[in-house]
Amino acid sequence: MAKNTVATLAEMKNNGEKITQLTCYDYSTARLIDEAGINMILVGDSLGMTMLGYSDTLPVTVDDMITYGKSVVRGCESTFVVVDMPFMSYQISPAQALENAGRIMKETGCQAVKLEGGKDMAPQIKAITGAGIPVVGHVGLTPQSVNAFGGFKVQGKGEANARRILEDALAVEEAGAFAITLEAVPPKLAALITKKCRAITIGIGASAACDAQVLVYQDMLGMSGFTPKFCKHFAEVGETMKEAFRAYDSEVKAGAFPAPENTYAKSDCSDEFLAALDAEYEDR
Ligand code: KIV
Repeated sequence: MAKNTVATLAEMKNNGEKITQLTCYDYSTARLIDEAGINMILVGDSLGMTMLGYSDTLPVTVDDMITYGKSVVRGCESTFVVVDMPFMSYQISPAQALENAGRIMKETGCQAVKLEGGKDMAPQIKAITGAGIPVVGHVGLTPQSVNAFGGFKVQGKGEANARRILEDALAVEEAGAFAITLEAVPPKLAALITKKCRAITIGIGASAACDAQVLVYQDMLGMSGFTPKFCKHFAEVGETMKEAFRAYDSEVKAGAFPAPENTYAKSDCSDEFLAALDAEYEDR
């Protein structure tokens, strides 16, 4: 399958074709997602919660993103890989943002970086895109600001907030972002932003009006114990995994696994040699 690029993704938007994205954090899952034909992967800083067990994304570091990002890139042939810039890796200045975006792209081999924020982050986005690094913006609910929001809540309620989110999206696009994640944005506002932006809108809890959709893969596979309203379980992989773990536990404890066919019996030495070896180590 041909590689998804900024150009092919923009063409999909222009042709009215929907675009798919899933989060992913490791090589094995990346291969499956790539083989399934998903257009984009986000190595999200949500890995702080899904892979590292933190209660939010704030402790995640650039080194964490590079470790997970590299493994995902190695698993992808055609899927376009975006790596998140973690909390405090870009907010301080455009120079800091460019340095860390460059490091992430150089060391992971990803095709784009993503950062959260609207108008206030436009100088950072300008600096990064000015160096030839494609950027995905992220407006609406921006999880790195969870403490400022007072929780993970729907955004854009009320006219002033709705206007601010549209203006944030336009500022991010103007600064050079080729795509914008819209998180927890009501449907009509998401539709308006999608209509007004040339950039690809990627919705999570932002309705089918967006050009693209993204979900955290553990949520959509029923592996996280977390089913937000906007998510759907496309399979109960968590239950299937637990059943397999229980079956393994029972079979090992019952002596049923490994069975003879699961051993390297054909490579065993002769009985005579093993008897001699046994005798040689009779004190053991
Ligand atoms: O980190 C992440 O997974 C994200 C998605 C929720 C869009 O930013």
